[in-house]
Amino acid sequence: MEEPMFSVIVPATTANLGPGYDSIGLALALYMTVEVHRSAQWSVRFDGEEYADLPIDETNLIIQTTKTVANRYGKELEPYALYVKSEIPLGKGLGSSATAIAAGIEIANELLTLSLSPREKVRIGSEIEGHSDNVAAALLGGVTITYFIDGEMEIVQLPEPKIGCVLLVPPNALKTSDSRGLLPKDLSHQTASAGNAASNVMVAAVTLGDWKLAAKMMEKDVFHEPHRKPLLQDFDRIREFCHGLGAYGMTISGAGPSLFIAVENGTEENVARRLEKEFPYYRGIAVTPAHTGSNIKKDAH
Ligand code: HSE
Repeated sequence: MEEPMFSVIVPATTANLGPGYDSIGLALALYMTVEVHRSAQWSVRFDGEEYADLPIDETNLIIQTTKTVANRYGKELEPYALYVKSEIPLGKGLGSSATAIAAGIEIANELLTLSLSPREKVRIGSEIEGHSDNVAAALLGGVTITYFIDGEMEIVQLPEPKIGCVLLVPPNALKTSDSRGLLPKDLSHQTASAGNAASNVMVAAVTLGDWKLAAKMMEKDVFHEPHRKPLLQDFDRIREFCHGLGAYGMTISGAGPSLFIAVENGTEENVARRLEKEFPYYRGIAVTPAHTGSNIKKDAH
């Protein structure tokens, strides 16, 4: 295949970190790379099996996003062929759709020289995805804390989280819409106050780099964990085992079904192997945070 015009590289993300529901995201150093080639028509080709069932025509989320951004700025786009390679498990709560949306935004920005600011990119991505947590982290990297309510948006980014991360990925996928459908429409004031307190202390602790305390609070979510965990095999046993291994804490990654475990930086490989051995239903992935978000590479390959 000829050299691409450019490539877009976007990290995976884990959303929520427990009580930061729909608000907090963390970028992970697992990447999707999208090569952009000149072509007579729009198309997508995927490397490997994992993404093989996704649309390869104009209904593909990356192409749709690229065209949505072009329309938004009143521009026309020539068609392009996209070649996608990804290390990100699909439909497993690791932000694969936000990664695709971020890629589409970056492609439109590059092809149309829109010079979008990071904030504009996050706003567009959040509007497309419907919530801001994954897409902000995918675009900006590090830990992102966002307020995206009724069209109002605020973003705080903490660029260099110093932890190791372990992902436990089960074989089954879970649609975000199905997982969101498990949540109650209303919460009592008492429950919301408890979730808010956990989230406040967690964010303050992350800001200070105290991940031990942050992960303790991460486990005190009341917004979604109690409603989703019945779907996640061995959830309580895994949490207990993580504590026994000295991990900082464990929670659901985004809407699930993967689990996210925060550990001391450098111990992630060992913790991943121990967990995988004890809970063979899951695949253990050791990873570090991604300090930077999506970016464009001109000399691809
Ligand atoms: N905050 C979202 C959720 C992340 O928990 O449903 C998944 O997109």
